[in-house]
Amino acid sequence: MHLYSAFAIIFLAVQSSSAAVDESRVSNLQLEPEQARIYGCRSHCQSLLSEADPVDRENVGAYYDAKFYATSPDFASSTPGDVLKKELVHRGLGRLHSISRSVWRFQYTSLDANDSLVPSSGIIMFPRTSMPDIPLGDQRNVLPLVAYAHGTIGQHYGCAPSSAMHFFEQENLEPLLAEGYTVVATDYAGLGNNYTSHKYLSFAAHANDIYYSVVAARKMFPIVFNDKWMSIGHSQGGGAVWKLAEHPLVQDPRSGYVGTVSIAPAVNMSDLATTTYEKILPLPNYQDYSVTGLSALLLTGIKAAYPEYQMPWAADALQNMLHFTNITQSCAVAITTLATNLRIEQIIAPGAATPMNDDILKQWTQQHAAAQGDPASMPMLLIQGLEDTAVLPECTIRAYESATRLNTIGLLEYSGLNHTAVIAASAPRWLQFMKDRFSDHPTDFETSRVTFDANSTIAR
Ligand SMILES: *[C@@H]1O[C@H](CO)[C@@H](O)[C@H](O)[C@H]1NC(C)=O
Ligand SMILES: *[C@@H]1O[C@H](CO)[C@@H](O)[C@H](O)[C@H]1NC(C)=O
Ligand SMILES: *[C@@H]1O[C@H](CO)[C@@H](O)[C@H](O)[C@H]1NC(C)=O
Ligand SMILES: *[C@@H]1O[C@H](CO)[C@@H](O)[C@H](O)[C@H]1NC(C)=O
Ligand SMILES: *[C@@H]1O[C@H](CO)[C@@H](O)[C@H](O)[C@H]1NC(C)=O
Ligand SMILES: *[C@@H]1O[C@H](CO)[C@@H](O)[C@H](O)[C@H]1NC(C)=O
Repeated sequence: MHLYSAFAIIFLAVQSSSAAVDESRVSNLQLEPEQARIYGCRSHCQSLLSEADPVDRENVGAYYDAKFYATSPDFASSTPGDVLKKELVHRGLGRLHSISRSVWRFQYTSLDANDSLVPSSGIIMFPRTSMPDIPLGDQRNVLPLVAYAHGTIGQHYGCAPSSAMHFFEQENLEPLLAEGYTVVATDYAGLGNNYTSHKYLSFAAHANDIYYSVVAARKMFPIVFNDKWMSIGHSQGGGAVWKLAEHPLVQDPRSGYVGTVSIAPAVNMSDLATTTYEKILPLPNYQDYSVTGLSALLLTGIKAAYPEYQMPWAADALQNMLHFTNITQSCAVAITTLATNLRIEQIIAPGAATPMNDDILKQWTQQHAAAQGDPASMPMLLIQGLEDTAVLPECTIRAYESATRLNTIGLLEYSGLNHTAVIAASAPRWLQFMKDRFSDHPTDFETSRVTFDANSTIAR
């Protein structure tokens, strides 16, 4: 064989192996081991990634639909709440399929943290119980609409819930659909479409995304819904719906907004970071706390809001890791897994910088945290598991205490339950609250704080 043709064979082999790279993937990109090593991701890191990747892929789907998420040409001349694209979702859906009548994916216009226009996306799911024999367009003004705000899934644009056809957190959506609610679930701007970065935990931006997803849903299906609507969110979404409840637009009675369910909410980023820094990271078992990994994502959230942010209290190893996961566009499971597995001196920088004296963190918190003394429009049910290691119970309780001066909030605490288990365990109570808020004569609701025993709750 000629030397030349030997080269040609090698060249072809390289070409075909690069052609085998899945072009449709834009998140959790897999680098060759030697390449990953250049960024400090050696064999332990690589094996952690190979465990995390399938979980992230399950959350965001294996296929990214670049055509759907591309910014619509109509965006430039749109106003907030305009529908830019819509399509019926046919594929997948898993268990949701049996309880939803139809699912739509849509792109719409929202407002970014600085009030500039941004494209966002989401899905709308109709319950099967909604008079299945009557076309949607003829179900006049009957269906109650619920806005769902999801928890942490990642920060890069490929980490979009609507990209997975079975939808992220479907176990939270199931009870809503089963009760007959139509659910509109935003991705939040920057997840899916890449016109702007996802401003993770910039709650004023997320609140806009939720509000305008509802406006867009009403424009897509003009006569289907009744006037009332509510929101429910978990974790990142729990903070987002709390911020939404304080939004001037939902204070207007004409908005039809009747209440909020906030489950294990991230509310005050400064408090979350400080409490983690002072109380969790010094523990010998800091790796058992989800918040250890989440603090890496909190840093990327600050950076998304303030691109010049230098992460002063993050050690070099953590910063290098975030540089690497930015190149691989990793979603939340990969990032939190890698961060959790760092040694403590690889997480916290030596020296005087801490979250307590981080002025940008404080400024960001003031711009975006809920529960800073603004009145909320309607009653809120607040739910917290006391074994939650992602959103620490003491932070939720501080937010509750500072907000109750002006707001009507029912806090339900569940002993023995963590960040995820609390959602299903408390479902009978939040569904009852929603039913009551949607009724024409909702019962009086007063600020209260009740603790439930997980065992007796599950037994119900
Ligand atoms: C943004 O997404 C489009 C597809 O919708 C893609 O062509 C483009 O490369 C992406 N831009 C960046 C900076 O990743
Ligand atoms: C608002 O933020 C976006 C990035 O999300 C940026 O492109 C734009 O220039 C900002 N606008 C103003 C007025 O600061
Ligand atoms: C990720 O990379 C982009 C492009 O270089 C940069 O703008 C952004 O700040 C980076 N994000 C983080 C968290 O490092
Ligand atoms: C956040 O929490 C800290 C600690 O409880 C508190 O001092 C601060 O005022 C809170 N910030 C905002 C903006 O609510
Ligand atoms: C629930 O019951 C189990 C078994 O009886 C017990 O071990 C556990 O401590 C209980 N949990 C709580 C939160 O009371
Ligand atoms: C939360 O609790 C459930 C039920 O006990 C358990 O299966 C799950 O692994 C826990 N999750 C975390 C993150 O600890």
